[in-house]
Amino acid sequence: MTSPQAPTPRTSSAERRSSFEHALREAADVAALSPSSHNCQPWGVAWPTSRSARQAAAQLVGEALDGTSSGESGTDESATDEYVILALDRERRLTSLPAHAVEMLISCGAYLQILLRSLALQGWSTDLIRFFDPLSDERTSGIPSAGRPLGDAWPPLWSPLCAVRLRRTDESSGRLAELRDTALARRTNRGPYRSEGLDPSVLAGLCAPSAGAAEGADVTVRHLVTDGERAAFADLVARHGGRDFSHQRAWRETHSFLRRDEAEAAARGDGFALGQLFGPMSGPRRQLLRAALAPTTMRVLRHAGYPRLLARQLALVARPTPAIVAMSLAETAPGLEATVRGGAHLAEYWMRATEAGLALHPVSVVLQHDDVRTELQDRLGLTGRTFFVSRLGRPLTQFPRSPRRVDARGVRVI
Ligand SMILES: Cc1cc2nc3c(=O)[nH]c(=O)nc-3n(C[C@H](O)[C@H](O)[C@H](O)COP(=O)(O)O)c2cc1C
Repeated sequence: MTSPQAPTPRTSSAERRSSFEHALREAADVAALSPSSHNCQPWGVAWPTSRSARQAAAQLVGEALDGTSSGESGTDESATDEYVILALDRERRLTSLPAHAVEMLISCGAYLQILLRSLALQGWSTDLIRFFDPLSDERTSGIPSAGRPLGDAWPPLWSPLCAVRLRRTDESSGRLAELRDTALARRTNRGPYRSEGLDPSVLAGLCAPSAGAAEGADVTVRHLVTDGERAAFADLVARHGGRDFSHQRAWRETHSFLRRDEAEAAARGDGFALGQLFGPMSGPRRQLLRAALAPTTMRVLRHAGYPRLLARQLALVARPTPAIVAMSLAETAPGLEATVRGGAHLAEYWMRATEAGLALHPVSVVLQHDDVRTELQDRLGLTGRTFFVSRLGRPLTQFPRSPRRVDARGVRVI
């Protein structure tokens, strides 16, 4: 029989660590399903466990400054906090166009949102997030974009984006399985969508406020649903959608993510198979398309108007789509925090759309060149910096899931 006076057993530091480790690995597994440009998966997540790394993480979240904690919890063994640090993996990022810098932060922000939501559902709620400003942090507090204060275990090609402090709550709701199901069901669907209009109340629900890293994101979401707006968008795609193919460096980079088939995509764990881009196809058609899309062929076909033809095909897919969603950040030149939070907002939106039976197909080519993006924003009255544009609708066909790197699910212990 237990004595009523028996002391409540205290969770030891080792038990806490092991419970957090389990939660973090589960969360990273779900977050790895996040969308990213070209499926390049440019994120990394580190878990500080050594005394010095915890101390550095505690400083990074600004514990000494905010007064809500002792400033010692990074080192105190009885502390109940854990930390994670989100990074951009510079080895995996796209670089051929300046606009890719924004797309990389958006992709990392989407990953962060799903990671933090998964942790919250396992009883680890986000208590503080501090974003790095690579330039001013390097100058004022010595936190370099290469992450040196985080110790030798910090991967040299990772740039820290933000540090997060998490606190144990008793609120593990057991809904992680639902979130995982939604993350598995969410995928880019480049096929045709039903042409009927979408219910305005469903569209409004996609924009409801969000928690986690998406909280406070200064994002305006516009649904372009009128005939005029959709025709203007399709027209822009028809005129400029070939830029992807005619820009040699950008196309070479895109092409490096194209895999011959699903088997090669699965083995590499990133990029996309031709079938994921163009839908299921026969072997001979696949061979033909592969040859036509090769950078050397494209260099020649460019002069025969091939990029324009591909742009017109994309416009034909876009035209009957019932809605185009455009997301913009308030500032015309948003900083790191605003952009990562924008990505978190996008993840939340995309997950809700999935739950509502809707699919997305981003059309980023109209954002990747400043002149085209400006024309799009002017024509459609989109203010600030539009960072994401996508077809939105009820898909007529299912699309296969795209691959993920095994180590994209991993957590780096530092
Ligand atoms: C910021 C961003 C931009 C994207 N732009 C495009 C695009 O222009 N065209 C496209 O087909 N897919 C685009 N995608 C979708 C990715 O290719 C897709 O997320 C990735 O291949 C993983 O596939 P999944 O979304 O089915 O998991 C974009 C995704 C993100 C996050």
